[in-house]
Amino acid sequence: MPNHILIENQIKSFKKKIKVSSDKSISIRSILLASQSVGISKITNLLESEDVLNTLKTIKKLGINYKKNRNTYFIEGFGLNSFNISKNTTIDAGNSGTLARLILGLLIKSKFTVKLVGDNSLSKRDFSRVIKPLKLIGANIKSKNNLLPIEIIGSDFLRPITYDENIGSAQVKSCIILAAMNTPGITTINSKISRNHTELMLKFLKYPIKVQKKKQIETIKVRGLRQLDSFNYDVPGDISSAAFFIVLTLLSKKSQIVIENVNVNKSRTGIISILNKMGAKIKLENIRLYNGERIANIKVRSKKLNSVICSSKLNSSAIDEFLIIFLAAAKANGVSKFKDLGEMNKKESKRLDLGIKFLKKIGIKVIRFKNDINIYGNPKLSLSKSYEIKKFLKDHRIFFLSSIAALTLGGKWKIHDKDSINTSFPNFLKILKNIGAKIN
Ligand code: S3P
Repeated sequence: MPNHILIENQIKSFKKKIKVSSDKSISIRSILLASQSVGISKITNLLESEDVLNTLKTIKKLGINYKKNRNTYFIEGFGLNSFNISKNTTIDAGNSGTLARLILGLLIKSKFTVKLVGDNSLSKRDFSRVIKPLKLIGANIKSKNNLLPIEIIGSDFLRPITYDENIGSAQVKSCIILAAMNTPGITTINSKISRNHTELMLKFLKYPIKVQKKKQIETIKVRGLRQLDSFNYDVPGDISSAAFFIVLTLLSKKSQIVIENVNVNKSRTGIISILNKMGAKIKLENIRLYNGERIANIKVRSKKLNSVICSSKLNSSAIDEFLIIFLAAAKANGVSKFKDLGEMNKKESKRLDLGIKFLKKIGIKVIRFKNDINIYGNPKLSLSKSYEIKKFLKDHRIFFLSSIAALTLGGKWKIHDKDSINTSFPNFLKILKNIGAKIN
């Protein structure tokens, strides 16, 4: 089977109800917290993508057993710091920055050295952001230039810290929270706002964690060494996967979609705020709360869009969605302005650089000043040439972006590294085909 797809036709108008794959951030967190709980946790609708399967493999290597029966994973934990680590353990986080950064927090007390490795893309990403706070807490960490491979050996002499997390990274915040759970006393994190699934899950599990919000900073206090009981969790849909179908619908003619059971936690819905500012009229229906998380059905119709001036306050809540938002801006009327997007270049690929390259390739004018960009939208944008998308470090979100561009703008597209979809959204192409896309 070739590892590329060909798209040569725009999608015809559609009216569909779909479900996208389960949330990746929540899937990874539910496994890691189950591994620290006492008893058997039951997790249903876990995302079965490579990042999540690597999380399961990782806890197994660290001595935690799990079983799967139908739609449920049963994970048997023995409490905090109960990993059974043998000498010369290597764990492979694959493509997942979230797994790699969060697991380091849980290894803060490891008796033996654990080596952490990852794939080509992860091996280019900077780990200083977690190495710094973990060293302050007391871990011993070796790495060359703050890159993988990293060796970590824990310590019995850990101290609670007060840490200013200035990036707005949920991975950094969560790594410190997980380390704090294994550290005596109260650890304080003053964190620039970012997705808060770890905090919500711990609150739902009645673990002693307090969060106070003041403007754009959240102060999080975590008490260490308290018991975590096993739990049941049903993982909702991922808004980062829904994002591609939202924009597909907006840019298609006379179409409508309802995406059911999606996590719409406000720390994740930047894409909806930005597109609605552009005139999208996306609706959240049947909003409900599930273990502290907000869930809804997302309803979208085709719509002509206007440009947007996007406040950088929305950056963290849309950080994984900017590529597809750029496509919406390319088709909007007017000049859209985005600011301070440097973090995009620290993802699975240099997404800001690649996003700009992509827009230029499809004939859109983009002006960049440092990490700010202006996109000159063209509502009449329609493509007829041939396009080949390759060498994008197999970044799944570049693959999704290219597919949606091909289906909404026309042209003949060859998109390589199809297997990158397995990172986060293995049934992406199947759902597209179900709503009428012609993909070879
Ligand atoms: C994630 C946090 C974000 C996001 C990533 C998943 C998480 O990264 O880009 O895809 O699950 O915590 P940062 O925390 O580094 O911004």
